[in-house]
Amino acid sequence: MHAFRDVDYDRYTITKEYDPEVETVRQRDMIERAASLAKEREEKLGRRMSACVVTFGCQMNARDSEKISGVLISSGIELVDDENADIVIYNTCTVRDNANQRVYGRLGNLGVMKKKHPDKKIVLCGCMVQEAAVIEKIRQTYPFVDMIFGTHNIYKFPELLVRLLEEDGMIVDVWKKTDSVVENLPTLRKYPFKSGVNIMFGCDNFCSYCIVPYVRGRERSRKSSEILEEVRRLADSGVSEVMLLGQNVNSYGRGLEGELNFPGLLREVEKTEGIRRIRFMTSHPKDLSDELIEVMAESSKICSHLHLPVQSGSSRVLEMMNRKYTRESYLKLVSKLRAAMPELSITTDIIVGFPGEEPADIDETVSLVHEAAYDNAFTFIYSKRAGTPASNYESKMSEEEIGEGFNRVLAAVQEEARKNVSRFAGRTMEVLVEDVNDKDKEYVTGRLSGNVLVHFKGDASLIGSYLQVKLCENKGFYYIGERV
Ligand code: SAH
Ligand code: SF4
Ligand code: F3S
Repeated sequence: MHAFRDVDYDRYTITKEYDPEVETVRQRDMIERAASLAKEREEKLGRRMSACVVTFGCQMNARDSEKISGVLISSGIELVDDENADIVIYNTCTVRDNANQRVYGRLGNLGVMKKKHPDKKIVLCGCMVQEAAVIEKIRQTYPFVDMIFGTHNIYKFPELLVRLLEEDGMIVDVWKKTDSVVENLPTLRKYPFKSGVNIMFGCDNFCSYCIVPYVRGRERSRKSSEILEEVRRLADSGVSEVMLLGQNVNSYGRGLEGELNFPGLLREVEKTEGIRRIRFMTSHPKDLSDELIEVMAESSKICSHLHLPVQSGSSRVLEMMNRKYTRESYLKLVSKLRAAMPELSITTDIIVGFPGEEPADIDETVSLVHEAAYDNAFTFIYSKRAGTPASNYESKMSEEEIGEGFNRVLAAVQEEARKNVSRFAGRTMEVLVEDVNDKDKEYVTGRLSGNVLVHFKGDASLIGSYLQVKLCENKGFYYIGERV
């Protein structure tokens, strides 16, 4: 590792080829600069500067928010939940249009706040701003936004923070792509006992409805040595559950010469002392190997849960979606998984209303939900994303038909969840306590290895501990339990 000061920054520009290690040092240096700027502001204000980071997207988006928060904290800025803060950062998502609409709605409110407090800084980052049309709209409709940066240069956030504190006017720094992975910036974890760990970035699958490959770029795996080092550091600092993150973890290591594959990586993570639970997201069915099933079945740490998005139960629709598996091959995979791991909880994602889909295809999705016996499923109405192949396909169903189909799928999902989750009723199982219950402060909320939520009497002192809990009452997707 280079020392902090002896780097010749002028020697290279970061848009060209560069040494990620040097970049890490440079960004750490920027944190020191941001800290001294924040200190100046603090003296003027007579209080610490505050910042509020809001996450709109998936686990990967949430992990990016932790990195942003880590830099803010390291710069001496206080993190708050209140959007009255001096700096508000929206980490956006664009996977469906309603995610975009939520951001626009809330930006309007921020604009009103800023009228009263002109020093307030408003920042947009994440997937939504990777689209040129969005940046144009913000320039025109929300000109009070102070900074926009994208998904590829998030590691540069310390430097961007310095600019935010020093400059006036809208700063826009969005890159079309990146090939690099910059390591080792500070992160702030939301939970002290569990953490996400990126194992890869981007996606190369180009499902025909999906915008992610366009806003997150090509698939890039991190080196296993870096991942294992991060897991070890997390374990040393008290983390006992890690969630390995990627859009398609099953293709981990592809393109990195001599690198481990995903099952190999899991075997190594398993060896880390202090880690008790290993989760991962997301598995694309087309790349799920027998070796992975073997590693999962043998492991004492890999959780008994697999999120295996199916999207549709109709092979015809799957083909149009470019998913590269069929209804039959998916169900065969589910049987193989169940034969190897009878206790496994399987969950999924489903899209209803894909252009070209017909009510008969939805019948097939409903029957697949029953056959696959999911513990839970996220069901979405198809949202047209500009620039994706499916945006040119023609819809064959009316809005009413789509709504009706959505309700049928949802009813099947709820029926299956209630039935399948009830298999644990009356048993005593290990729960990792995560939080005090939102609604009733006398209760805490934890998770089974199979990811099912359990609420039981307890207090904040239990957070982070593994307890034996009797599962008394099945409430559909969750349990009310009793500590034994
Ligand atoms: N990489 C993951 C999914 C990431 S996006 C995978 O392939 O499984 C999370 C979910 O959002 C997807 O599984 C899909 O169900 C849904 N989704 C993606 N694009 C969508 C769109 N255009 N309209 C509706 N739902 C969509
Ligand atoms: Fe989107 Fe498909 Fe990639 Fe998942 S695998 S992120 S659905 S393109
Ligand atoms: Fe995640 Fe949304 Fe981006 S789902 S990868 S935050 S578009």
